[in-house]
Amino acid sequence: MLNKNLKKVINKLIYFCSSRFHLKILSELRFPRKISRFLLKKIRIIVNLGEFKERKKIAKKLAKSNSTYFEIKDSLGFCTFDVNKLKYGTCLLNESKRIIERNKNKDNNFYKGGKKFFNDLLTLEDLKNYPVFFDFASDLKLINSISRYLGIFPIIGNIRIIESIENDTMISSQLFHLDPEDYKQVKIFINLSDITFENGPLTLLSSSETKKIIKKVKNPYLRVSDDEIYKLSNKNNFFECIAPFGQAFAVDTCSCFHMGSRTRMGNRIVLVISYLSFPGIVEPGRTSNIDFKRLGIKIKGKNSNMLLRSLRPKYLA
Ligand SMILES: [Fe+2]
Repeated sequence: MLNKNLKKVINKLIYFCSSRFHLKILSELRFPRKISRFLLKKIRIIVNLGEFKERKKIAKKLAKSNSTYFEIKDSLGFCTFDVNKLKYGTCLLNESKRIIERNKNKDNNFYKGGKKFFNDLLTLEDLKNYPVFFDFASDLKLINSISRYLGIFPIIGNIRIIESIENDTMISSQLFHLDPEDYKQVKIFINLSDITFENGPLTLLSSSETKKIIKKVKNPYLRVSDDEIYKLSNKNNFFECIAPFGQAFAVDTCSCFHMGSRTRMGNRIVLVISYLSFPGIVEPGRTSNIDFKRLGIKIKGKNSNMLLRSLRPKYLA
């Protein structure tokens, strides 16, 4: 009982120290969101200056080599690529297929209280038992492609296989939004099923188009309705990630308005690997940054230690 209460108190204290709380206070004081985010970013850089400089240095060193798989242009904020052309790509697809078959009809709510239209098909045990997921995610050529765009050596936030289940809802991430963690981050979406319009593809607006309309959006850091966004930008400007099995997309979900999982017919399955910038503006959500090191996951290679890092205080709810 005491333990439970103590945990609650610690939880509260940690929350009071978090950027999420500071952002809330600043917004209550009617500070413009843009300025609050700018200030919090600067403070977090100062607090983490040593690691920030170290990550910048590694990214700079990596950028000198031309060893990349793709380039995300700043004006677009996303690109496409073929997974089979990446080291471990084919092996990753084959392993994913086997895992999907095995976990498909199980109740996989291991991110308790998660979105109702999501089913997670990759367990932590799978990540431990099948090294191909981290071998793929930590491949230096892939990291260099991402690090060049972010301008800093990133963190692997999470690796998930997400099944979007047939639904008729329009809630949460089914509405257009920007991920709040930072100014930039990269999520890799790999199609593990053929994805058509009816399956609810990831739909996004380039970063330059997003920049054009962001000032006109009432609350750009909350969910934005279709009515509002389609008034501001023509429907033809939106890119739908409609593609067959094996096609992949690298997307900056902080700079590009996006939504997905409006799965009206047939389930959609994607592998999502998120790469976080450092140190971020606010702490990532609980499904965006798993403390893999604490869970006993190790990866090989130089600087691999820097790839696994939690930006979330232990008790942050
Ligand atoms: Fe998102």
